[in-house]
Amino acid sequence: MTTPASFTQDELKTLVGQAALQYVVPGEIVGVGTGSTVNKFIDALATMKEQIKGAVSSSVASTERLKHLGIPVFDANDVTSLAVYIDGADEIDRSGYMIKGGGAALTREKIVAALATRFVCIADASKRVDVLGTFPLPVEVVPMAAEHIKRRFQAQGGDVSLRMHGGAPLVTDNGQHILDVKGLAIKDPLAFETAANQWPGVVSVGVFAHQRAHVCLLGTAQGVETLKY
Ligand code: 5RP
Repeated sequence: MTTPASFTQDELKTLVGQAALQYVVPGEIVGVGTGSTVNKFIDALATMKEQIKGAVSSSVASTERLKHLGIPVFDANDVTSLAVYIDGADEIDRSGYMIKGGGAALTREKIVAALATRFVCIADASKRVDVLGTFPLPVEVVPMAAEHIKRRFQAQGGDVSLRMHGGAPLVTDNGQHILDVKGLAIKDPLAFETAANQWPGVVSVGVFAHQRAHVCLLGTAQGVETLKY
């Protein structure tokens, strides 16, 4: 038997992915995020696929995994609301505010989260922080605005880099680019998100404060801890 202290990070992701099933409402469509932790959730969701109508997905990668496992995927435009959205995070603070977008899916994640009544974050304990900003903040930008937005973050003390993939700028599912901003201490996530979202050329900023988590299933050495905000 595995002792709690010997959980690997991968095992913690599996534990929280499985624990999230308790928030899935039978007969409904579930909102599904993106990332390695969500992949564990998708695999677990497949075990109860007969009990749900399907999913709204936040990325091409999650859509492919859902479909491969036989879970129907609906377009976000075909639903008016979702009972729950389940997604990971790169950082989560004590108010349920998060940094997301390490997997470059932040814009669609925010759209699906906005459709949901409840955001359930699934994360291992390494993601918990007091102040957001140690993880480089992802910002999805229209390519022609990248240098301008880079200078604005630099003026705030940020160290900004254009995310690359295979020697070229990474292109998101929406055809845009990602800036990663290091060196920020985001003490007022609501105000930060509101301000940065209004800069011309910003598609989405990876601070999820207006779409914060309502519940976090945190994988710890002692097992799954449930945090409510
Ligand atoms: C993708 C995300 C992910 O939720 C975040 O990067 C966490 O990923 P992982 O579960 O692989 O650590 O925001 O855009």
